[in-house]
Amino acid sequence: MDKLNRKAVIAGNWKMNKTATEAKVLISELIPAVKDATCDVVICTPYTTLATAVEMTKGTNIKVGAENVHYEKSGAFTGEISADMLLDLGVEYVVIGHSERRQYFGETDQTVNKRTVAALNAGLKVILCVGESLQQREEGVTEELVRMQTKIALRGVTAEQMANVIIAYEPVWAIGTGKTATSEQAQEVCAQIRKVVGELYGEAVAKSTTIQYGGSMNAKNAEELVAKPDVDGGLIGGASLKAADFAVIVAAASNG
Ligand code: PGA
Repeated sequence: MDKLNRKAVIAGNWKMNKTATEAKVLISELIPAVKDATCDVVICTPYTTLATAVEMTKGTNIKVGAENVHYEKSGAFTGEISADMLLDLGVEYVVIGHSERRQYFGETDQTVNKRTVAALNAGLKVILCVGESLQQREEGVTEELVRMQTKIALRGVTAEQMANVIIAYEPVWAIGTGKTATSEQAQEVCAQIRKVVGELYGEAVAKSTTIQYGGSMNAKNAEELVAKPDVDGGLIGGASLKAADFAVIVAAASNG
């Protein structure tokens, strides 16, 4: 089983939630709750919480990620954060291309690509998000769309750098809506993404790339989703804000 050769990754995407003070409470609950995980555990938090999260998770199995990064190294980009700034704090991961960034903040496939290359070149691990809208699914273009997003995002990324890339398949219609993709739908698109990675980088890279599902994954449906052969964990929004729920998902991915 190829799946056994890949490490499942459960990543929390906190979005714009939790002050640094509130985060202390959640992280102190999370640390004991996920300590026995055999999958990788990441929490992606707002910038204002990153220093706290890095400090509190030192010596634990929880890794810390940011929710975005700018592609320039430094300069006149008011309000932006560079990859070096994140690395200097001790941040390991960054989410790039989340549909909320695409939808509300003008993120395009091109800027997703620039951020991905800059983050990888700096030494961050990237959680790259792709996924179709409801309209695109209904028009039957999910495969083409996700294929295009994946290919453009990875332009200029080397086969070696793919070891630091996780791809998260997140159908936009399933994010924050309580409407989860069926495990069959998740499997189908994750397998298509793996196929694209194979075309770009060869079979070995495709087999070793972690591909997550995201979109209303929760304590109840996680087990079925992560059991699918091409689903290597999840990117979790709402359910990552409750330690008990997140711990159930981490446990499901540890078994799956
Ligand atoms: P959700 O968010 O789990 O709240 O649907 C997932 C995500 O946006 O990464």
